Amino acid sequence: MTDYQEILDSIYSELLQQEDKGEIADYIPELAKVDPTKFGIYLNRIHEDNYGVGDAYTKFSIQSISKVFTLAMAFSNQGNKLWNRVDVEPSGNPFNYLALLEQENGIPRNPLINSGAIVVADCLLSTYDNPKAELLKFVRELANDDNIDYNVEVAASEMATGYTNFAIANLLKSFNNLENPVEDVLDFYFHQCSLEMTCEQLSNAFFPFANKGVCMQQNTCLTPTQAKRINAIMLTCGFYDEAGEFAFEVGLPGKSGVGGGIVALLPDNFIITTWSPGLNEKGNSYLGMLALEKFTTASKASIF
Ligand code: DON
Repeated sequence: MTDYQEILDSIYSELLQQEDKGEIADYIPELAKVDPTKFGIYLNRIHEDNYGVGDAYTKFSIQSISKVFTLAMAFSNQGNKLWNRVDVEPSGNPFNYLALLEQENGIPRNPLINSGAIVVADCLLSTYDNPKAELLKFVRELANDDNIDYNVEVAASEMATGYTNFAIANLLKSFNNLENPVEDVLDFYFHQCSLEMTCEQLSNAFFPFANKGVCMQQNTCLTPTQAKRINAIMLTCGFYDEAGEFAFEVGLPGKSGVGGGIVALLPDNFIITTWSPGLNEKGNSYLGMLALEKFTTASKASIF
């Protein structure tokens, strides 16, 4: 039988020795304050035991991982109508790349790059009177945990310095692909990115994606088809211009954030979250990717 605790312990102790931990994202000033030595892993085996190592119970900024939650909300509200405003193709470009959006007439390549997530945020603003409260409610429900909040300093830090995201949102607006004012959409988008969660909370919140849309408390959050489609988007687009490399090395659908978190999952089997704030040159956690490659190799668990 596979000893998951032993696998996680050995990956953790091996990678703790690693000197190169990547670079912290400092383009968001508040994120530059994070301790680069933090490292945690949490495994939720959906119908079996759970395992945590290192800083698995410390909160961090989930950043782009939040794009999966807003996508799930918008997709379950709007159904396939959503795809008129955002495509589902890998972009092969960095998460904040601007030029492709102009070439493709304001239709973002997919909902996990910034432009696509900003369109998804706009959909939620058009749907709810108080989208920030609705998102918080949704994520707390998925994680089965009320101890999840926005970090308003991180959101304000991005509102003050997020020039590329303002450029993206203005371009979307010029192509009539934003219904709401740019400032309102970005205020929501920066808040969603500022959500703070632990590796344990993230693994739990991703439960429905690994369990055909049914969350931990057995409520149906998504249809099985919606869960399948979101997993497909994570596999092809979850790591931007490193999506191919992640599929090649790790072999799981997943999503990264510049706070250093990565969530990956094997449908009907497990969700695993890693957190190490140092990033590689593509903006994905350096140790997180190494840890996940080692995990799927040691446990022989991947979608391929
Ligand atoms: O919009 C941004 O630039 C950040 N709030 C989120 C970017 C991010 O997490 C990209 N992920 N690897």
